[in-house]
Amino acid sequence: MKNNRYSPSIVRYYDAIMKAGYYNHRDIALILQKILKNRKKILELGVGTGLLAKELIKSGYAVSGIDFTKSMIERAEKRLTGRVKLFLQDVSLLDTKEKYDAAISEGGPWLFLRRGRSLNLQSHIKDFEKNISALKRVSDHLNKNGLLALNIQPMHQNIDGLIIGKKLEYSQRIKTQARWIEKEYIVKRWKKRVAYQKSIYRLFSKKEEMELFHKGGFTSSHTDKSGSFMIFRKNK
Ligand SMILES: C[S@@+](CC[C@H](N)C(=O)[O-])C[C@H]1O[C@@H](n2cnc3c(N)ncnc32)[C@H](O)[C@@H]1O
Repeated sequence: MKNNRYSPSIVRYYDAIMKAGYYNHRDIALILQKILKNRKKILELGVGTGLLAKELIKSGYAVSGIDFTKSMIERAEKRLTGRVKLFLQDVSLLDTKEKYDAAISEGGPWLFLRRGRSLNLQSHIKDFEKNISALKRVSDHLNKNGLLALNIQPMHQNIDGLIIGKKLEYSQRIKTQARWIEKEYIVKRWKKRVAYQKSIYRLFSKKEEMELFHKGGFTSSHTDKSGSFMIFRKNK
């Protein structure tokens, strides 16, 4: 099955979509500070255009970032100008030859969706075993007592015509099944489509989720006080 690399057209409008209220990266960095405490060497999985990485370096973290979308990494390079080590890599082949105190994914390869009172793991990686090997690679890149923090966000919603710039509108269309979510991202300028992306995400049951993290080298999870991140600890 095709992977979810972002199309160059949607990457061109990524920052505009984010800045129209999708995520608030300053607030996320402040929440992460409370989670990370004295863990200073951080790996961001799915660094995107570097919006969160920029806030993290402002707060004094040493940040590296990986992303499998070339146009995202190119934008991150421009934004971060050598202050973050960037790698064009798929997390399933993660290999930076360094160890970190924590890995974080904010809307990256893995995240949790809030559905009523439960939290559902969502992954960009469709294959079950490949998720395990990718998590193993992440845990192998962590120091003793290393943490993995995955953001928690509301269930995806349809969005219609959110204004993201002059004559620029963003819409998203969601189709949900028990094990899959299809998400279409559409940008229109003067009502004419200028960017499009379709991503398919895998969802896991609680039992599968526990097996994934256990086999991937992580133990006990808990949510942070703000309810924004699910936190896993590297196995001893
Ligand atoms: C929604 S963006 C989030 C970017 C950034 N973390 C932020 O907060 O703005 C998700 C990013 O994860 C990347 N990504 C998704 N799956 C990945 C994978 N398997 N390996 C590496 N990067 C991945 C995508 O290319 C994309 O840039």
